[in-house]
Order: sequence, then C-alpha cells, then structure tokens
Amino acid sequence: MTTLAAAQALWRPETTYLNTATYGLPPQPAWEALQAALADWHGGRTSFEGWVPATQRAREQFALMTGARVDDVAIGANVSGLLGMVAAALPDGTRVVAAENEFTSLIFPFLAQEARGVRVSFVPLERLAETIDASTGVVAFSAVQSSNGAVAALDDIAAAAGQHGALTVVDASQALSWLPLDVTRFDVVAAHAYKWLMSPRGTAFMYLDPGLAERVRPHGAGWFATEDVFSTYYGGPLRLAANARRFDTSPAWFNWIATAPALELINRIGVNAIHEHDVRLANRFREGIGLPPSDSAIVSADSPQAEDAFARAGILASARAGRLRVSFHVYNTDEDVDAALNALS
Ligand SMILES: Cc1ncc(COP(=O)(O)O)c(C=O)c1O
Repeated sequence: MTTLAAAQALWRPETTYLNTATYGLPPQPAWEALQAALADWHGGRTSFEGWVPATQRAREQFALMTGARVDDVAIGANVSGLLGMVAAALPDGTRVVAAENEFTSLIFPFLAQEARGVRVSFVPLERLAETIDASTGVVAFSAVQSSNGAVAALDDIAAAAGQHGALTVVDASQALSWLPLDVTRFDVVAAHAYKWLMSPRGTAFMYLDPGLAERVRPHGAGWFATEDVFSTYYGGPLRLAANARRFDTSPAWFNWIATAPALELINRIGVNAIHEHDVRLANRFREGIGLPPSDSAIVSADSPQAEDAFARAGILASARAGRLRVSFHVYNTDEDVDAALNALS
C-alpha cells in the first residue's frame, strides 16, 4: 500500500489539469514502462512476446479493483466494441431501457440491433430503477454520467433488475478507480481505461457474468482468444479459451504496457482513499461556486465565463452538454481547486 499523498509525486502535470473525465494523466511508472517499450521497438531490440504479459497483469488488477474473478474479465480496445458482442447476443425484440443522454458507446451497440426488433427507450437517470418492469430485457446505464458526473442509484437499479429478471449492463468508464464498485452485482460491466484509470487510449475491460457469457459469441476472436496464445498462430479448428479470454481481441501492446502499472498503482493507493480525495476536492470546488455538496468527482456547472477564464489561467477543463465539466482526481490538490476558483472570481 502507498498513501495518496506519497503517490502524488508520481504525476507531473504542467498545467492545472481538471479534465480527467476527458483523459487521465499517466503516473510515472506507467510513463516509464511505455518509454522503455517504445525504445525497444524503435531499436528493434526484442521480439514481441515480452510485451504481451502486461495485458494479463492489467486484467488481474482490474479484477482486484472490482471484485471480479480474473476468469470473468475480457479485454478489448474500447467500450463499444466489447458491448457490441453483448448486444448481438440479445434475443430478437429485446426491450432495453437506458438513461437519457448516455454516452453513445454504451447505447449505439443496442440501437444498432434495431433491425432485429431490439428497442431502446430512454428515461431520466433518476427514473431508471422505477421504469424497469417485466417487459425490460436489459437496463443499460453508466455508473457515472459522462455529461454531468451524476452517480447512478446502483443499489436501486440492481434490485429492480433482479426483481424483474432484467440484465444489467453498466459502463464504468467514468467511475472506476474513484467509485468503489463490486462488478459482480451486475451482468456486464465495461470500462475504458484512458480516463480515471490513467492509461493510454486503446485499453478496455469487460466483466461478464459467467452465465451470460455462455450466450455471447466471441465475434472478434483471433489468435489472442485461444487457450495458449503462443502455441500456434495458424489454421483451424476454432480453439477458444474456456474463460472470458475468448472475448479478447489482440492487444495494442504499448498501451497495455502502460495500463498495467497504472492499475497496480491505483490498487496500491486504494479506491476508497481516491474516492475520499476526489469527492472532497469536487465538493471544495462546489462550495466555492455556491453549489451544495455532491457524491461525484465530476462537477457540472452553468458557467459561461469559465472557458475564457480557465484558458487565461492555464487551467484545463471541458464543456459538455453546454455546461462546464470539471473533474478531480488523485493528482489534483486543494491548490488546484483554489486556482480554478480564483480564475472564476
Ligand atoms: C461513459 C463513457 N463510456 C465510454 C467512453 C469511451 O467509449 P469508447 O471506449 O467506445 O471509445 C466514454 C468517453 O468519453 C465515456 O464517457
């Protein structure tokens, strides 16, 4: 274990970076591992085999962070590609209920099944649990909303889905590492690692309930979906891994090399400690702009002057759905919050 305060020395932001909801900053061990692998590649110093185990290390760390069995975790390049396999496995005519304004990568995989009679209806996030009934086949939602940081009522949604036999499909891209999450309470949990997991773009995970996994086809299977990935790269028959690795697609080596140490560090700090830190900073910022406290690391505010004010002060945040979106993560400090408040005042 390491304390969060000690770990903060492992990041080197050159700006006041309040934009983790867009992309996270790599900790030094991830950055250095990536540079070393790139140098090996540049110099033609090694074969590729040594670049592969980082994928399994990252999978193990994801499992540790989320309570999943390692065998139930698949890896891919993005959320939509992983969820596409789940959406394709739904029976014709399945009714999906999703939150309004969800990020497209979660809902497009289901909307793309429309020709088979799969129907998606949208309701406000806060009405999701009460909307689930016996006709609901799937409830799809982000644990934390991309547009405004709202945290879903995870207990209520899981309970309602359990009561009515609906599958739960969760996008945890904006939640993992700061929101404690036991993924085994849900049927599917997918997440990209380039935001709160502070990894390069191009690494993503999916927890799949083993019962559901039986019904999902590994549409992207290739050499990396086999039981022993190095045994042979040629010819049939189809020989897939027995566990969720059969849903893997071949990894973008260098991205995974940086993802593994990033997740190892997060687990050493601990999600609970990061949760406490991130939400405390977000609430310090909220108080400064006159908002009541909340339970999220992401603050959404109506602040038309923020874009110019932040640009002048060298502060990075983002605008989503016409509002300012500011996010606070492990490398941010009270001074960052105060710099943002000063810029706005
Ligand atoms: C909630 C959520 N899911 C997924 C993604 C990224 O999706 P993909 O991995 O398909 O690029 C984002 C990016 O902003 C997001 O906010």
